[in-house]
This record gives sequence, structure tokens and C-alpha cells, in this order.
Amino acid sequence: MDKKYITTPIYYVNDVPHIGHAYTTIIADSLARFYRLKGYETFFLTGTDEHGQKIEQAAISRGKNPKEYADTVSAKFRSLWDEFEISYDYFIRTTDENHKKGAQKAFETMLQKGDIYKGEYEGHYCVSCETFFTDMQLINGEVCPDCGRTTTLVKEESYFFRLSAYQDKLLKWYQNVDDCVIPKAKKNEVISFVKQGLRDLSITRTSFDWGIKLPSSLGDSKHVLYVWLDALVNYISALGYGTDEKNFSYWPASFHLVGKDILRFHSVYWPAFLMSLNLPLPKHIAAHGWWTRNGEKMSKSKGNVVNPREVAEAYGLENFRYFLLREVPFGQDGDFSQKALIDRINSDLGNELGNLLNRIIGMSSKYADFKLDSIDVLKYYKKEIDTADMILEEAQNYMEELCTNKYLEELWKVLTIANQSIALYEPWSRIKEGKKDEALALVALSANLLAKTTVLLSPIMPQTANKIANALGFQIDTNAYNKLIIEKKLLDKSILTPTEPLFPKVEKELMESVIPTKDQNKKEFINIDKFFACEIKIGTVIKAEAVEKSDKLLKLSVDLGEAKPRQIISGIKAYYEPAALIGTQVCVLANLKPAKIMGMESEGMILTAEDKNGLSLIRPENAKIKGAFIK
Ligand code: ME8
Ligand code: MG
Repeated sequence: MDKKYITTPIYYVNDVPHIGHAYTTIIADSLARFYRLKGYETFFLTGTDEHGQKIEQAAISRGKNPKEYADTVSAKFRSLWDEFEISYDYFIRTTDENHKKGAQKAFETMLQKGDIYKGEYEGHYCVSCETFFTDMQLINGEVCPDCGRTTTLVKEESYFFRLSAYQDKLLKWYQNVDDCVIPKAKKNEVISFVKQGLRDLSITRTSFDWGIKLPSSLGDSKHVLYVWLDALVNYISALGYGTDEKNFSYWPASFHLVGKDILRFHSVYWPAFLMSLNLPLPKHIAAHGWWTRNGEKMSKSKGNVVNPREVAEAYGLENFRYFLLREVPFGQDGDFSQKALIDRINSDLGNELGNLLNRIIGMSSKYADFKLDSIDVLKYYKKEIDTADMILEEAQNYMEELCTNKYLEELWKVLTIANQSIALYEPWSRIKEGKKDEALALVALSANLLAKTTVLLSPIMPQTANKIANALGFQIDTNAYNKLIIEKKLLDKSILTPTEPLFPKVEKELMESVIPTKDQNKKEFINIDKFFACEIKIGTVIKAEAVEKSDKLLKLSVDLGEAKPRQIISGIKAYYEPAALIGTQVCVLANLKPAKIMGMESEGMILTAEDKNGLSLIRPENAKIKGAFIK
């Protein structure tokens, strides 16, 4: 049987894990569990990306040496994944000796192949994205088009990889292998990027130290590997490339799961490197969308980062997993809200899944003394079973395409069949009519529908699925999968066991705020100069329009009395009609660094106040001249 190899990105250690990291890792974990359930030998890799200028700077700013610093943050990722019961088979760190050897071997192999030459790099570099940019790509000649930070001008000796030589080969690959990059829309973006022409890629740096040295045979010790070459190689060094290749039979990867932010590195650079190394290309590179908060990118500086541990503690880890995989279609962006999470828990999980189990147990206790017997199910309810078997067979295709939301929707269709059958055939009426065998068959029908669904739910909610299976008197494993899903058989005779309610109703938001709170008891004072450093000005809104495809955002044009009005993207759509804003005066943080929000430049921030009842603008009591300072 084919082996499966599933990877997450290796996360930078400049920051602690947040909901976005948890999202990718949980999808990958569910996929790995799905294939293990089906009986595949599966290798699931995650880890941390620890070299490069960004990490070096983060360490220095905390007064630590980079390795010490990386040790601490890497351990935080690992322990969160352990707490989250992420079933990784190997956790790679790019500071591991084996990985370094693998990366050096890759460099040497590419060099021997004639794909590497020495030259000089001159251009812009974004340390935060660890990416080189051409003048054409920058905003205003210096701002990073991806993250909005100012880039630095770099001029240094560098080795280059002949990426340009792989342009046609890459295009052929995209053409020949339909699902090499999924979803389709993302693949098309990659193709048009490559069609614009590929330049050779600078793959070494000399202006700092924190990286993998070039192979010593080159005698060029001032160079370290470009962090993206170093990082991408993790996918093969983890299998022993360059060292002990006993796990190399897992290559090529079945799925590289990534966020859309790093799709280009994975679908352009990585396959080109692999071609140069004469290695087979990954089967699928799957890019998911971005989690935002109130339509805004999450970032530490904005203090709007959702902490996954906090969500899991408040709402339950598996409810959180279900929400993440059910709420947004793979590839699309999602906005985190407690309300949406609570709805999912109370409705999908509580009403439809939890109640079904309760009803089955209740009916079985009343009519069958907790005994389950599937003997008459097909006699009375063959249609229901056949429909469910077909739905569950086909649902699996969605999982293999990572459409986890559709997969779960299909599973829930089977729960609906079970719930509706109980309502329609009313076991209590059958009993009254003296048709006890029909009533018992109905109990067994619903138990079987739930059991089959639970097997396929187990990759997403493993513990919950085990609890349901225990209650129904069977065990989830590959045998159960083969029997209930592949062979489409029914449960054996068993004894049902009552269980505690699985999804107690959530009555209110359980997290005060998803904005991480600093230690509340420790008041931190600032000096007045910090406040004066903020230019807060009065402006008049002269244009306002809704941003299409966003529930949150309005695009405003605000006159601050300057030569030209400012374009400001603001997350107030849910609270204000655009037309009602024209002419109103607002407070604007005017010297905020411009940022790109959903691809649009935002040149400042409008001040608002938010509490549980919503959000409102902060406006001057009397009209003020445009540009008036707030002090
Ligand atoms: O890019 N929404 O590491 P990184 C969804 N070290 N996913 C998000 C997210 C968000 N708001 N924020 C982060 C790197 N992610 C490199 C990768 S791989 C060889 C090297 C997830 O720490 C998503 O998977 O910046 C994204 O691609 C990844 O974290 C970026 O993590
Ligand atoms: Mg990043």
C-alpha cells in the first residue's frame, strides 16, 4: 500500500504559536489520522525554522544568543502540540545536526549539477518575510508588498540558484499534474507568477552569521545558507536525506500543507530545488487561507492575536478542532469569532450529534435494556443504511482534497438521516402498535448510522469519537473502518453504555477577550512622550464604501487637511452604513505605518471604542478643523 507523508510548515521561532499555526497543524494532524485510520503507513512531520536574520534579531532584542532563544521558543511549539495531542511522528528543528548535513548535501548536489554560481546580490530584502524583492515589487520603492514593513537595501556577495532555468519545467509540471497545487485558484496565481519570468535566486547571505555554513569543501566560510533553502530542505532531511536514509521511502510528500503566505516558496522554489536534486516532486501542495480577527491581520503589535491554548481551554480542544475545520472552506480566509464557535458547539455538536447519542441511549434503555442488535435493520431500513453508506464512501474524497468543511457537512447528512428517522418512524408508536422488532430495528439503525459517522469523525475529534464508540460498544480502529465503511457492514450485538453529556450547552462567551491580556495586576506606565509620539488628528470622512468580500471592512477616504485625503481601511462595516459616515468627523492615528489590508493600502487608523455591545467611533463633541491635533 502506498505510504503517506504529510507535513506542516516549520514555524519560525520569533513568535509564539497562534491560531494560524494551530490551524495548519490541526488540518495536517486530521489528515494523518485519516490515513492511519484507513490503514496507510503514515509519516507526519512538523517542527521549527530557527535560522536567519529575523530570528537572530529577535534573539538579540531579548538579550539572548540565537540558539538559546530558539531552544525556548521551539519547546513552546512542541509542548503546545503535545498538549493538543498532535500526532506528529517527528519534530524537526533546523538547528539539528542531521538537518544541517542534509542542507549542506543539497547545496553541494545543486552545485555539482551546475545550478549554483557565485555573484553579487544587490536589492531589497524584507527581514520579516525573509524575502528578496525587486524594485518593481515594492510599494513606494521600499515597502514590502507582503507585510508592509520597510525593506533594507542589501549589497553582498552571494551564491545564486539558477531558478530561471526551471521556469519551463515548472510550467510543464503545473500543466501535467492537475492537483499538484490546490486549491485551483491558488494554483492559477502561481502559474501567472511563474509566467512573468523567474530570476535566479540568491541562496546565501554574508551579512550575518546565524545560519547553516556552506559545505567546508567550498572554503567560503563567510556565507550562510539563505533561510528558505535551509527551511525547505527540512522536508527531506527529516527523512534522512544526507544522513541515514532509512525513512526515505516516504518521499515524495503526499501533502505539504502551507498557508497562502508561503505558497510561492513551496510551489516554485521547492520543486525547482527538487528537480535540481533529481528527486521526485511532492504530490500535493495545499495552501489554506488566512485567519483574521475583525477582518484584520493578526499581529503582536496590534495585540489581536488569538491564542489557541486559551480557546481550547475555554471551549474544549476538540470543539475547537471541529470549528476550525468546519467553519471555513479550505483555501478561503476565515474570521475568528467566539459567536461562530459557540453556534457550532450548540447546534452541530450539541443538538445534532450529542442529542442523537442521548436519544439512542434513552430509547435503548427504555425498549431494549441497553442491548443492541442489528439483526432487523436491513429488513426495515435498508434504504437509510444504503444512502448513508454511499454518502460516507464519497465524503472521503473531500477529505483527500482537504475540503474538510464539505467532508464534515457530508458526515452531518448521515446524522440528519438518523435524527429524521427517529422523528419519522417514532419508535414509541411502533411499540404501542405492538411492533417491537421494528422499534428495536430503528434504535439499531440510528446506532449504526452514528457509529459509521463516528468512525469518519475520529480523525477530526479523536477523543470524542472514542467516547461515542465506547457508548455504542465498539472500538475505533482500522478494523472498524474496514468493516463499517469499506465492507458496509453493521455493528455486532453489543451493550450500550450511558455516557456523560458530550457537549454541554455554551450559554455565553467564555473568553473575556481573545486579545491576550498583559498581566492585569501589573500596571505598566508610559511616559508622556510615548503618547505625543502618536499623531492623532481630526479628519472628515469624504467617501465611504463597503469592501466587497469582507464582512468587516469599509474603505474610507478621510480629509486630514493635507494635500490629499487618506485612504483608510477600517473594520467598522458591521456597525455603520457607508452613506451615514459622509461628513462625519473621526479621530485618526495619522502616523501609523501604512499597511496593506486585503490588498488595499491603509494610511492610518480610525479610533473606535469596543465593548460587548459592539463598536463605535470616537468623534469630537464639536466640529473641529481638519487636521486638528488631539492632545
Ligand atoms: O513562514 N492564518 O513560518 P511562520 C492562517 N518558517 N495560517 C497562519 C496564520 C494565519 N493568520 N499565521 C500563520 C514560515 N499561519 C516559515 C515556513 S516552511 C519550509 C518554512 C500558519 O512561523 C500558516 O501555515 O511565519 C503559514 O504558512 C505559517 O503559519 C507561517 O509560519
Ligand atoms: Mg510568517
